[in-house]
Amino acid sequence: MLGPVILAASRSDKMRRFVSAAPGTKQVVARFIAGQTVEDVVPIVQELSERGLEVTLDVVGEDITTVEQSYAARDAYLELIGRLKELGLGERAEMSVKLSMFGQSLENGHELALANVRPVVAAAAEIGTTVTLDAEDHTTLDSMFAIHEELRKDFPQTGCVIQAYLFRTEDDARRLAANGSRVRIVKGAYKEPASVAIQDKPEIDKAYVRIMKILMDGEGYPMIGSHDPRLISIGQELARRAGRKLDEYEFQMLYGIRSEEQNRLAAEGHRMRVYTAYGTDWYGYFMRRLAEKPANLLFFVRSILTK
Ligand code: FDA
Repeated sequence: MLGPVILAASRSDKMRRFVSAAPGTKQVVARFIAGQTVEDVVPIVQELSERGLEVTLDVVGEDITTVEQSYAARDAYLELIGRLKELGLGERAEMSVKLSMFGQSLENGHELALANVRPVVAAAAEIGTTVTLDAEDHTTLDSMFAIHEELRKDFPQTGCVIQAYLFRTEDDARRLAANGSRVRIVKGAYKEPASVAIQDKPEIDKAYVRIMKILMDGEGYPMIGSHDPRLISIGQELARRAGRKLDEYEFQMLYGIRSEEQNRLAAEGHRMRVYTAYGTDWYGYFMRRLAEKPANLLFFVRSILTK
């Protein structure tokens, strides 16, 4: 019940101001957000790397309102890639981007987002890594998939995300699996209407399994984005049945969530990538993490009340 209310609040400016100013917010945010600047996140990438984990870095931000902000987003990623190059961390860290932060919802947003993301993808390729396009709400996805296809003409390693809760996703998975793409499958984190998305959690899990099977049996590179132990073990079994070697798929989890499980999978020889978000515009990302687990909200409210 609480999840949809928190997701609605994630789009409210009034709530954004309230949450940002609340005492105790900083401490709870720090569990999910790895810092504010590139310099904050570099030691975390190094530490995760020493633990045998790989990383996908997200400069937090979305739903921008000006073209200048879209250029700033592009430049923030270029700065990050430059720093990874200096430190020789290029091969362990890929990037995740939200096209709404690159201007997708502004006027001529599709073209703007493509023009902004292309140099980021090119810079990533130069240091031996790649970019994955995150999936946002369903109204943005046709544009995201078209940009993904366009980028893959020059940079075939570019990945994208699909969401198990959407009715459209099995078809998207078949298309992407057939054309050899890197694809991250997740359950889906946005508030979506019943006309486009499954609302029942067990049914979303069943769809997730069907989609994992399509990806594992296909030509591409599946990235299993979940903390759900049941889905992770089904993923391992589907990979085995499809005859995939350990480096022919990977698991992904979010920074700050189930770290022990991340270590365990890496120790078993799996490729385990940690989605590590940093930056100052953390509100939307943070609220989605609260919505995923009611206990997080309780912890957050308690930390406000005890300050
Ligand atoms: P589920 O929500 O059932 O959680 C399983 C267990 O994991 C919980 O019981 C709990 O123990 C733990 N857990 C999960 N979330 C937690 C949290 N926030 N805090 C504490 N514990 C938690 N979504 C999207 O729409 N577009 C995207 O591009 C992405 N990208 C993405 C990348 C990666 C690497 C991951 C792991 C996830 C995403 N997501 C996403 C988010 C995704 O859609 C989904 O909301 C979360 O992963 C939660 O779903 P689980 O599969 O983890 O299962």
